[in-house]
Amino acid sequence: MNDSPHQPVLYKEIIHALRPRRGGRYVDGTLGAGGHARGILEASAPDGQLLGLDVDPQALALARKTLAPYEQRIHLVQASYLSLSAQLAQLGWDAVDGIVLDLGASSMQFDTPERGFSFMHDAPLDMRFGPSALNTAADLVNKLSERELADLIYQYGEERDSRKIARAIVRARPLHTTRELVTVIESVSPSRGDRVHPATRTFQALRIAVNEELASIEVVLPQTVASLRSGGRLAVISFHSLEDRIVKDFFREQSKDLVNPPYEQIYGEERKATLNEVTRKPITPSDEEIKNNPRARSAKLRIAEKT
Ligand SMILES: C[S@@+](CC[C@H](N)C(=O)[O-])C[C@H]1O[C@@H](n2cnc3c(N)ncnc32)[C@H](O)[C@@H]1O
Repeated sequence: MNDSPHQPVLYKEIIHALRPRRGGRYVDGTLGAGGHARGILEASAPDGQLLGLDVDPQALALARKTLAPYEQRIHLVQASYLSLSAQLAQLGWDAVDGIVLDLGASSMQFDTPERGFSFMHDAPLDMRFGPSALNTAADLVNKLSERELADLIYQYGEERDSRKIARAIVRARPLHTTRELVTVIESVSPSRGDRVHPATRTFQALRIAVNEELASIEVVLPQTVASLRSGGRLAVISFHSLEDRIVKDFFREQSKDLVNPPYEQIYGEERKATLNEVTRKPITPSDEEIKNNPRARSAKLRIAEKT
């Protein structure tokens, strides 16, 4: 997460993980403001190349500015990382040396009130990373059944009060703004005196659902493995346990020789390990980084190398 005014989260660690080299080919699937991408381009000078993807046109515009000095070596596309294989085919790249995914929303998105990501600002209930998302947060809040809303808030927000909140939403709808939603949540789930605002988990849940974040991670991971050359590296930063669990399970699963591997359609056959985990435990930001950028506190970086 995070771009200006801070360095991107785990910046040094990402560059160290990917070991960019001259002439290498890299993918940043979640370009954001282009901070990690810039580091990769600097470290792979003079001729390393980078494909950068983001669904958010505003992010792409920011990244274009950040990366202007490297214009000759970049390919920036407004597209989902779900189209990774197709984008590489379009460029004629058959294998890449490194891929970074820095999941979730950017600081720019959180800090732009009218995007509707933050319960601190009043804005339309939008929360889409990009215009291609099928539903806004308002669509979900106003159209789902009480049961569906409760399940969504529980599964993606790990919110204990999900049923109460869903009932209150259904009673109060239609809801159009973040402030209206916050007021409804506060009416049934008052602050418990901890540091977490009562709307935090419901907002997280809606954002994950609007952008189909967890399903997207599951779909992109096998594509990353297929796109890396042998010895190429994948670095994934996640910001909550639901994301991290998917990455962790995938890395573990791909690090084993298996019969009937669940992620592939080859039954009755052995599949050799496709990844080696570079570090068994995730890398987390230093105290110093968290002090400078509190949003980094929940970040976890996992790194794997293609066999
Ligand atoms: C945490 S930010 C990345 C920040 C970036 N690493 C930097 O250095 O500035 C995550 C970005 O991923 C984008 N994103 C989220 N889901 C995406 C997807 N499925 N495909 C492409 N980009 C996506 C968001 O729009 C956001 O800009």
